[in-house]
Amino acid sequence: MNILLLGGGGREHAFAWKMSQSPLCKALFIAPGNAGTAQHGTNVALSPNDFEAVGTFVQENEINIVVVGPEEPLVRGIYDYFKADEALKQVRIIGPSAQGAKLEGSKAFAKAFMQQRDIPTAAYGEFTPDNLEDGLAYIDNHALPIVLKADGLAAGKGVLILHDREEAKAELKAMLGGKFGAASERVVIEEFLDGIEFSVFVLTDGKSYKILPIAKDYKRIGEGDTGLNTGGMGAISPVPFVDDTLLKKVENWIVSPTLTGLQELEAPYEGFIFLGLIKVGDDPYVIEYNCRMGDPETEVVFPRLKSDLVDLLIAVGDGTLDSKKLEIEEQSAATVFLVSGGYPGAYQKGKAITGLDQVAGSLVLHAGTKTEEGILKTNGGRVLALTSLADNFKEAVSCSLANAERVQFDQKYFRTDIGFDL
Ligand code: AMP
Ligand code: GLY
Repeated sequence: MNILLLGGGGREHAFAWKMSQSPLCKALFIAPGNAGTAQHGTNVALSPNDFEAVGTFVQENEINIVVVGPEEPLVRGIYDYFKADEALKQVRIIGPSAQGAKLEGSKAFAKAFMQQRDIPTAAYGEFTPDNLEDGLAYIDNHALPIVLKADGLAAGKGVLILHDREEAKAELKAMLGGKFGAASERVVIEEFLDGIEFSVFVLTDGKSYKILPIAKDYKRIGEGDTGLNTGGMGAISPVPFVDDTLLKKVENWIVSPTLTGLQELEAPYEGFIFLGLIKVGDDPYVIEYNCRMGDPETEVVFPRLKSDLVDLLIAVGDGTLDSKKLEIEEQSAATVFLVSGGYPGAYQKGKAITGLDQVAGSLVLHAGTKTEEGILKTNGGRVLALTSLADNFKEAVSCSLANAERVQFDQKYFRTDIGFDL
């Protein structure tokens, strides 16, 4: 198989690392990739959102599978673009149609989808500038804290949790007034759920599905889950509090009706469904759907997947996933992200990275890195993820932390408490 992987973060390095181990992988290209993905294939300077350029590359290089890492090309319809083109429609696209990707691309769509199917989620209302007054009244009539969400994609910044009604009203007006551009022309206001979050990944060919190892990510910049939200500072897998009873509820109440719902909508879905869940009491609720794998969760999920990922993805594209079996590594995985000082605010790039040759016992997955004149340099806020496997997640975190000390770059920062709450 000739494979094109779209994206260039830690998630994509984990995909490239895993897929390149498969005897079925003949050639791997990554667009745009990073210094880490270049160890496993050929980076190509293509934007994942430039469908025409991606299509031309796919034809010229006889690509058989396109694996889409990030959500944006999916929400913009890369699946549909390929299926509508005579020369491209045979290519397997790993990712949903635009209609399926709406689960992530429109929070209002996702909420209505769940409500219609009794999938457990927070109670909500949906507002536009035309019914602003109803939105203000909704804030008056519901408990604090209250959650405001931009309907569309807002680069992970579109969710606000507010503890004061006047502040919530001001934010609603600001959002509907364009605070997040077109993404917040519509706003979902929902009840705050108090519980502990975890991530469930479902691989589906649209008919059958497999549940991948469960993970939990740590999104806040500061120790003890404090400070600003980031793309993710670390993750672990499996998650000790997700037992068989909870997982059965996830499957019966959430996974199964979600797939049935997508089939009813006739929304082709051949890819990953990422369920952002929260355990409230003994029950799971959906916080959000994403139409892709998570980052940094992929950095702990794929190292625990013993099965051949390329074999699974071919089956997804061919509609034969039913015939496959997942093999999962018993050991626990943890990942710790090294980030640039200042992130998720302003930070500098271009700092030389040293000490990778000192790393022992961890897998180094690159996110924001590039090679310039033979020197490895930082090229983003999240720089490198260090993933370790051990008998329990605490030992895995310890191993990643020991290696986090060995890797050096100016203004390196990382959290030392991944898994602290478990
Ligand atoms: P989202 O982008 O929808 O995942 O929201 C970002 C983060 O906001 C989530 O990971 C949660 O930590 C938090 N969040 C979102 N919705 C709720 C809610 N209804 N109750 C509590 N926390 C929430
Ligand atoms: N880890 C959260 C995300 O990928 O959106």
